Amino acid sequence: MNMAIHLNWLSILMLCVVLPCIFQQEVNGAAITETTVEESINEETTAELETVTEEACGPCNLKGDPLLAGPQPPFEAETQDYPGLESKMNPRPDYGYRSYGGNERLQGKVAIITGGDSGIGRAVALAFAREGASIVISYLNETEDAEETKKLIEDQGQECILIPGDIGDEDHCRKIINETVTKFERIDILVNNAAYQGKMLDESIEGMSHERVLYTFKTNIVSMFDLTRFAVPHMPKGSSVINVASIQAYHPSAGILDYAATKAAIVAFTKGLAGHMLGKGIRVNCVAPGPVWTPLIVSSLSKEHIAQFAADHPIKRPAQPREVAPVFVFLAAGRDSSYITGGVFSVTGGLITA
Ligand SMILES: *[C@@H]1O[C@H](CO)[C@@H](O)[C@H](O)[C@H]1NC(C)=O
Ligand SMILES: *[C@@H]1O[C@H](CO)[C@@H](O)[C@H](O)[C@H]1NC(C)=O
Repeated sequence: MNMAIHLNWLSILMLCVVLPCIFQQEVNGAAITETTVEESINEETTAELETVTEEACGPCNLKGDPLLAGPQPPFEAETQDYPGLESKMNPRPDYGYRSYGGNERLQGKVAIITGGDSGIGRAVALAFAREGASIVISYLNETEDAEETKKLIEDQGQECILIPGDIGDEDHCRKIINETVTKFERIDILVNNAAYQGKMLDESIEGMSHERVLYTFKTNIVSMFDLTRFAVPHMPKGSSVINVASIQAYHPSAGILDYAATKAAIVAFTKGLAGHMLGKGIRVNCVAPGPVWTPLIVSSLSKEHIAQFAADHPIKRPAQPREVAPVFVFLAAGRDSSYITGGVFSVTGGLITA
């Protein structure tokens, strides 16, 4: 009896005191975010960038139904040669220019983002810059996309250096770390994001050449060993490594089995590395995105597949890079995620990963 009364009182307390508090916090949170977005948009940004982003998120409903929060298929079926350019995609991916507001979570930090020129990497670069980080972007040879991202970062008042080259090459990985440390003296965040996804094959394993499989493994997973190995001596306690896996680690497609296998390897790499790095005060996690609208997609899939990309997905559309990037900020910011290491974070629009 006493217990019941006690519980009732607790419920009333919850309803009257705690819930309105939570609600109030959400309202305040939203208000803060909106002013910050407004403040962090540099009005002098080129008209070109503005149009591009308006195009990308014009029809999107950013606060309501998640099914409508990004463009849905059918898409214009345009393929590109590897590695593909974001600037030639239609619609242009939405990297969060209008929606992501920073809050000094990464003030003064130095972040390396592989594949930071476009796609998820670009959205992460923008979000990190708005949180106050200096950015190092490694990319293969997509000069046009990389220059645009650099300008975007500098418009946020942050420094950005570009390091083109092939991360499948050990010496190049050494160079990325060397140039970063030479310029910024340390590394706080390493985002191992770059990946190669070859053409989606019908014939599966028979069509998968030795060269292709090697290239995929060198780019997607061997590079993570090299970059992390060279970076760690320069990472102070509180640093964070964030690897990009994929839904493909859990639901592998036969036509890109090489890619899927590297993504499963990245999950194991993350889990194993996390335990090992805790003693150095470094956290290691990975993000497993589902289908995301990026240059990797238009340079891997067929026209027919692109036109219907993610149509059969639970959420019936691909993610936009803007919808993936905030998880990276959370995992990078020790003030928010200090207890989180060895984790896999799904951003899959309803497909179950584990
Ligand atoms: C970029 O690198 C890829 C892979 O080596 C190559 O096929 C492509 O031609 C290069 N593109 C440019 C613009 O250099
Ligand atoms: C970077 O490479 C140069 C030339 O090899 C070397 O002198 C320098 O010590 C290296 N810097 C770091 C931080 O490794």
